[in-house]
Amino acid sequence: MKVTTASVAAMAAGAIAAPSNTTPREATKAQAACASAVSLDAKSNVFSKYTLHANTFFKSEVAKAVEAITDSSLKTSASKVGDVGSFLWLDSIANIAKFDDAVADVPCENILGLVIYDLPGRDCAAKASNGELKYNELPRYKSEYIDPIVAKIKANPNTAFALLIEPDSLPNLVTNADLSTCQESKTAYEEGVAYAFKSLNLPNVVMYVDAGHGGWLGWDANLKPGAEELSKVYKAAGSPSQVRGYATNIAGWNSWDEEPGEFSDASDAKYNSCQNEKTYVTKFSAALSTAGFPNHAIVDTGRNAVTGLREEWGDWCNVNGAGFGVRPTATTGLELADAFIWGKPGGESDGTSDEGATRYDSYCGKPDAYKPSPEAGEWNQAYFEMLLKNAKPAF
Ligand code: GLC
Repeated sequence: MKVTTASVAAMAAGAIAAPSNTTPREATKAQAACASAVSLDAKSNVFSKYTLHANTFFKSEVAKAVEAITDSSLKTSASKVGDVGSFLWLDSIANIAKFDDAVADVPCENILGLVIYDLPGRDCAAKASNGELKYNELPRYKSEYIDPIVAKIKANPNTAFALLIEPDSLPNLVTNADLSTCQESKTAYEEGVAYAFKSLNLPNVVMYVDAGHGGWLGWDANLKPGAEELSKVYKAAGSPSQVRGYATNIAGWNSWDEEPGEFSDASDAKYNSCQNEKTYVTKFSAALSTAGFPNHAIVDTGRNAVTGLREEWGDWCNVNGAGFGVRPTATTGLELADAFIWGKPGGESDGTSDEGATRYDSYCGKPDAYKPSPEAGEWNQAYFEMLLKNAKPAF
């Protein structure tokens, strides 16, 4: 993170300064972004050139969390978490507004990570993250969600963007096709993701579409259908040049390379040859090549420091005992894995533990889920402090 305290102060000053052609805010932005238009080559690993930006939204969440901590050594380590690069979730039409602040301080050597997450009928196999658009509101997704984001990215040609496209959506179509909610959403998911691919295919953008994790599309029987689903949507979009590949373990808990793997003792382990994310990336990339989809991955290591916590591999909600994992880096040891990134902002909840809430999902009430937990996306101070105490490497 290259923004100095001085430049943050200058931005704050900009908010109250008299309007002019050279308000401090504009000046700061001009200094921060590149001097000319950014052109990303999606045939190469952009993370080897750009650092994932520590965005102002997560920074401000962490700053508030730091204020709430009394223990002085914990306070000191907590204050470092805001400097970690992470993805910013544009999870509703209203939250597209977060873009403006986030883009204002991105230095030329950084890339701003954004999660595109508002498909019609969102989160069709669970309840915790059901979204604002109904399954039949694809036109609104296009015109009120994707199009405005496209306009904002086009208005910032001198900034580099990494987009993580629609967590859980295509994997749900592969493995949860028996659910009526996922059946209803199928057309909107496929056409929505294709529309996102096509519309966001801009020179200063690289895209990664969500592909679940090793315990999801990594089952032997899911690898090929999963790869074919991604490829189908990509081809329907006209095989856009800026699609680099896929994302795994988003908001997940899997280890990168634990051997033989956290769930390798399970009775069904023989049906899954991807017992860690590294093996999953290796095997899924091969399946994607066969299916004709770009096969490089980014992997979320934001909360995967501690294993052995989940009763079952599919337990996804606020896992108790978790810790912050490896910081974002392009040094993964596997050419197919472009980078370890922080996808889920650690401290934001996965779902409410309030059984009376409309979006209560029973996974958030399981014995291995942390309680109490607020609504998905809301800040959970106690959970943040737990992630910090269990971080590996430590802060
Ligand atoms: C969940 C929430 C979403 C939030 C995201 C990141 O998926 O539904 O609102 O932005 O997590 O915390």
